[in-house]
This record gives sequence, structure tokens and C-alpha cells, in this order.
Amino acid sequence: MSTRRGVRGVRGVRGVAGLRWTASAVLLLTVGAAGCGAGDAGGGRPARGGPPDGQFGLGQPASAQQVAAWDIDVDTLGHGLPAGSGTPARGAALFAQKCALCHGANGEGAGNLYPKLIGREPRTGFPFGQDPKYVATIGNYWPYATTLYDYVHRAMPFVAPGSLTPDETYSLVAFLLWRNEIIPETAVIDARTLLAVRMPAHDRFVRDDRRGGPEFR
Ligand code: HEC
Repeated sequence: MSTRRGVRGVRGVRGVAGLRWTASAVLLLTVGAAGCGAGDAGGGRPARGGPPDGQFGLGQPASAQQVAAWDIDVDTLGHGLPAGSGTPARGAALFAQKCALCHGANGEGAGNLYPKLIGREPRTGFPFGQDPKYVATIGNYWPYATTLYDYVHRAMPFVAPGSLTPDETYSLVAFLLWRNEIIPETAVIDARTLLAVRMPAHDRFVRDDRRGGPEFR
């Protein structure tokens, strides 16, 4: 799909990839150090190529609980949305407490670093590439409400990703949808009602159904 999600993905991956690289580097250093130690001590292990049975004795199988803790994605069809619910009013209090610091009290963003979250203009057309005064927001560019849950729960607040409970996340999503004039202030957002929300930007995107060929890049 040629969507903003793609762009988001790329931006997100950059940071994560950096972390992964660091983690791998640490692991390599650790393995390297362990290898040297074994060699120095003359512990009977081959100096190169690892132990004969191919087992390094590192790590342990992930438990079902550990896997579940990582398995948090919510897709466009709402798969993965947990039980729980939230309201714009509860979200407003949470936003002031946990989000306004970076995104501004009214979700107006700050500089180039902290994205604007609230804003519906332009209500028609797709002038983002031509007119820099239009900034992509949840109200004018985000195609699915369900992936807003996914993103907020997975990645925000920036300094403590994954710390929001389902109820808190539903409330923050409800607040953002309300302030973007997408749901009424009285709405209750849960897995069912969130899936029913149609985003203003939904039809601004088309599914990329290309399957290769010279024009495919
Ligand atoms: C410490 C600063 C900080 C705090 C606090 C913070 N954010 Fe963010 N937020 C960011 C940054 C930086 C990005 C851009 C991340 C990126 O592009 O990879 C972002 C991106 C987002 C986006 C995606 C916007 C877009 O158009 O791409 C949403 C939605 C969002 N934040 C919601 C929240 C919510 C809800 C909270 C409170 C629970 C929150 N943020 C708290 C810094 C923050």
C-alpha cells in the first residue's frame, strides 16, 4: 500500500534498526569475549568454529507469555485489539499528563521533531507534496483508526513505549479522534466501535496491487 503507514514504518525502523545494531554489537562482543576466555583457559573447546555440537549454550526458548508480550500488533482490520474501552474525556486528562509535553496542549506539535497530531485541513484533495503549509495529521492523513491504536500503544509516549494500558490507549485514541472532529465527545471507544470509525483520509489512499514488472520499484 502506498500510504502514510509506509512512511511511518520507515521512520520508525530507522530508530529501531539503530537499537538492534547496538544490541547485535553487544552480543558479538560478548560472544567474542567468551570465546577468548575459553581459549585462554584451554577448556578443550575448539579455538575457531564453535563447539562441536553446534550449540553455543546461549539464550533460552521464549515462553508463551514472553511471546505474547511482544505480539501486540493491531492491523487495519482490528485484529489484535484488546478488551477495554476509553472516552475522550479520560483521554484529555492523559494527553495533558503524558503527551502534551512534546505534541503541545492542543496537539499542534513542536518544530520538526514533534509531529502535529490534530488538524483537518485540507479537507479535500491531496496537496501535501505541493504545498508545504499542509502538515500530515491524524485528521487529514491517517487512513485507519485501528492502526492509531497500534501506533500509540506500541510507540508512545516516546520515552516509555508500551507503558500504556489498553484502557489508557483507547482513551487517548478517543481523545485524538474527537479533537480531529471524527467522533463525538460522548463516544465510547472499544475494539468494536474503533473498527467502525472511518477516517477522513481513508479514501485518499489506494491499495498498491502491483505484482512486479518494469514499473515496480
Ligand atoms: C518525549 C516526547 C514525546 C512524548 C511525551 C510523546 N510523543 Fe508522540 N511522538 C514523538 C515523536 C518524536 C514522534 C515522531 C516519531 C517518529 O516519527 O518516529 C511522535 C509521534 C507520534 C504519533 C505519530 C504522528 C504522525 O503523524 O506520524 C502519534 C499518533 C503520537 N506520537 C501520539 C502520542 C501520544 C498519544 C502520546 C502520549 C501518550 C505521545 N505521543 C507522547 C514524541 C513524543
